[in-house]
Amino acid sequence: MTVGIDKISFFVPPYYIDMTDLAHARDVDPNKFHIGIGQDQMAINTKTQDIITFAANAAKTILTEEDLETIDTVIVATESGIDESKAASVVLHRLLGVQPFARSFEIKEACYGGTAGLQFAKNHVTLHPESKVLVVATDIARYGLNSGGEPTQGAGAVAMLVTANPRILSLNDDSVMLTQDIYDFWRPVGHDYPLVDGPLSNETYIQSFQKVWEENKRRNKRQMADYQALAFHIPYTKMGKKALLAILEEETEAEQERILSRYEESIVYSRRVGNLYTGSLYLGLLSLLENSEELSAGSRIGLFSYGSGAVSEFFSGNLVPDFEKALCKNRHHTLLDQREKLTIETYEQLFQDKLNTDTDQFFDDNTPFSITEIKNTVRDYRPF
Ligand code: CAA
Repeated sequence: MTVGIDKISFFVPPYYIDMTDLAHARDVDPNKFHIGIGQDQMAINTKTQDIITFAANAAKTILTEEDLETIDTVIVATESGIDESKAASVVLHRLLGVQPFARSFEIKEACYGGTAGLQFAKNHVTLHPESKVLVVATDIARYGLNSGGEPTQGAGAVAMLVTANPRILSLNDDSVMLTQDIYDFWRPVGHDYPLVDGPLSNETYIQSFQKVWEENKRRNKRQMADYQALAFHIPYTKMGKKALLAILEEETEAEQERILSRYEESIVYSRRVGNLYTGSLYLGLLSLLENSEELSAGSRIGLFSYGSGAVSEFFSGNLVPDFEKALCKNRHHTLLDQREKLTIETYEQLFQDKLNTDTDQFFDDNTPFSITEIKNTVRDYRPF
């Protein structure tokens, strides 16, 4: 029996800004954002869309009635939680209509949380092959207007259904994990935005990748040639490339070209969306699967997960025959293409228009799973 990703989908809010417009507004050379950071567009959300609306929208499109009756665990990974106590997955469980005898919980370790959820799901299904586990990585990445991190913001969710004998990616038992107590990016309770040491975060990301890659080679006796592609956590698309270049020196030119070409395919979506925090690695995986013509069944994909603070994990999965048939490529491309471009002025207004959950109020956002009402500090959502 294999265990892994049977279904996977992403959702981003229906608005974006162009990075050239942001560069002009911030008096920066646009090439810094497009080439230096590697971002072309950035997803923007309104105050009536939150991590639960993203999660519900990402999951709803892939789940059948049979899935809803079989899922026995709902996991939300996020670092943009809306409650210090109650898990977002409990609300998600109701909105989706998952059968009641399920466990639901939220996981936090910066951008690493989605991988913790996926590994929990894998272990659970290995013990209980009849179970299905829904893992949703959902976040709003915000650093503040005019901040250093502003061009690396984003918003959205990736939903994954983990089952036995999956149709997309079977996960291997080869994880190399690494924990280091470092303050490169953190958000103390009560702070709207994270505190970030940009250079340290870049440095820690790269050295973490080098460490888990070397340990993976030693422990799992693998070389680059054993991987058809590597997918990375993508806080901005240049980041994964910097880490990759740090280990590629020892490879032949042909091997470097092969793996860098796959990397370019893995960042097609992130270039248009920005950072999804917990969802970024899985958006990268989806981008690779849906935009590469070079992948073949049975081949191994390496995945590098990084959460500031810092926890990393390198693991792999093997593509299942006919995996392409289980993807939703057209829907994802339409989702990105049909978004509305905002002016920087509108983006700044939306950014400052924060949701006040201490005041009862109604909203008239007609998007499915948007917030309809705040009552006694509780958010209610428009169903699908
Ligand atoms: N044309 C082309 N390239 C240009 C350029 C131009 N005109 N001007 C500058 N550049 C290049 C620079 O040379 C640089 O390239 P290298 O990194 O290859 O040297 C790149 O653009 C960025 O320039 P700076 O380093 O000067 O950029 P910055 O000081 O504005 O900071 C940042 C960039 C550190 C990423 C900042 O946006 C930030 O703090 N972001 C948030 C933190 C983050 O994403 N860290 C990543 C690792 S942490 C993580 O992965 C977890 C997570 O999700 C947050």
